[in-house]
Amino acid sequence: MTGLYVYYTAMRILSIETSCDETAVSLVEANGDFPAAEYRILGNALFSQIDIHREYGGVFPAVAKREHAKTLVPMLEKALGTEAASGQNLSIDGKVLAALQELLEREPGLFEQLKEFATTHARPDIDFVAVTAGPGLEPTLWVGVNFAKALAILWDVPVVGVNHMEGHVVASVFDGNKVASLQFPALALLISGGHTELIKMTGWQAYERVGQTRDDAVGEAFDKVARLLGLPYPGGPEISRLAKLGREADLPPFHKLPRPMLDSNDLDFSFSGLKTAVRYAVEGKELSETDKQAIARDFEDAVTEVLLKKTEKAVNDLGIKSLILGGGVSANRHIRDTFAAYFAREYPDLSLYLPDPKLSTDNSIMIALAGHARASQTLLPTLETLTTIVANGNRSLADE
Ligand code: KG4
Ligand code: ZN
Repeated sequence: MTGLYVYYTAMRILSIETSCDETAVSLVEANGDFPAAEYRILGNALFSQIDIHREYGGVFPAVAKREHAKTLVPMLEKALGTEAASGQNLSIDGKVLAALQELLEREPGLFEQLKEFATTHARPDIDFVAVTAGPGLEPTLWVGVNFAKALAILWDVPVVGVNHMEGHVVASVFDGNKVASLQFPALALLISGGHTELIKMTGWQAYERVGQTRDDAVGEAFDKVARLLGLPYPGGPEISRLAKLGREADLPPFHKLPRPMLDSNDLDFSFSGLKTAVRYAVEGKELSETDKQAIARDFEDAVTEVLLKKTEKAVNDLGIKSLILGGGVSANRHIRDTFAAYFAREYPDLSLYLPDPKLSTDNSIMIALAGHARASQTLLPTLETLTTIVANGNRSLADE
C-alpha cells in the first residue's frame, strides 16, 4: 500500500449568537481544519425578535436581553434535535448544578429552563461551544456568553469567544459546505446596523481596518431614514422594497441628496449628513406613496454610490485580489447587484463574494465557522479570557 492517509477528526461545534435581536443556536460539524474543512449543518435554530422590537421602533437592550433569556433553551433544543436524546430524570452533579446556578444568578428563569433541559436530555456529542463575544449590545452579549459558559461546564467542553464581524466575513464566503479559498490581500466591506468598516485581510485572522464610518453605520442610516418615512423597524428591507418600486417606475428624483465624503482622500465614510438631508427634504411635507418610493430610491442610490467608490479606491490603493461584502446591509438587492455588475465589468480579475441572503443578517452558523477558525488556529481561550473579550465588547475586527 502506498500513499499517505490523512485522517481528519470531525469537530462538532455548538454555536450561539445573541449580539442584537436574533437568538440563534446551531450545531455544525467540521471535517478538517479551517479554512479547508467541509462543513455540515446538523441543526440550526433562529428566533428573530423583530416583531417585539417593531412596537418600540428599535431594539431596547433590556427587552432584547429578556427575550434571549427566554428563548435560548428552546433554540438549543431545536438545534440539537435528536443529537440530545430525551431521557427521564438524568442526574446532574451537585457541584455542576451549583456552578450553573451561580453563573446564571441574574437569569433565574434561564437557569430553571437549562436545569430542566439537562435532566431530560442526554449530553450531545460536541467538541466545543462557540459564542459571539462582541461587538454587540453588552447586556445581550452577556446572556449568550453566560449561557455558553454554563453549557461548557455542564458538558465539560471548552468555549471559544467569537468576533461577530469575523462571523459576517466568514458567512460571506461560505457556500453551505465550504469556505472559499481566498486570494490575499482581500478586502471586506462590512455593513451592518452597528458597523461600516473596510477591513484589509492579509490572511485569515490578519486584519487591518483601513476605513470606517465617522458617525452612523449604514444600517443605522437605513433604519433612521425609514423612521422619517414612517416605515417600521428594521428599515433596511422596507427602504429596499420601496426603492425597487421607485426605480422600476423611473420616478424623477425627489431631492438631490449629497454623496458624503465621496472625494475625501481616505477610506472613511459618513452617513449622518445623508440622513439629515433626507430629514430636511421631507420635514413638514405630506408624503405620497410615490414620494416615499422616490426618496427611498434616492437614498439607496446615494449610499450605494459612496460604498462603491470608496471600495473601489481601497481595491486600487491596496492591490486587492478578493472582495467580500458582509453584514446585514449586504442583503440589500440594489447594493449587491450594483457591486456585482460594476466589479465584473471593471475588475474582471477580482473575485467578489456576496453572502447567501439567508446568512447576510445575524445567524449562528457564521459563529460556528468563525469559532472553528479560532479553534483551528489558537489555543482555546479560557473562561477568563472570554470575560475580557466581552468586557471589551465594542472593539473592531481589526483589534483581533
Ligand atoms: O448584521 P445585522 O443583522 O445586525 C448587526 O450586526 O447590526 O444588520 C442589521 C442591519 C439593520 O440596520 C437592517 O436595517 C439592515 O441590516 N438591513 C438592510 C437590509 N436587510 C437588513 N439594509 C438594507 N437593505 C436590506 N435589504
Ligand atoms: Zn451582524
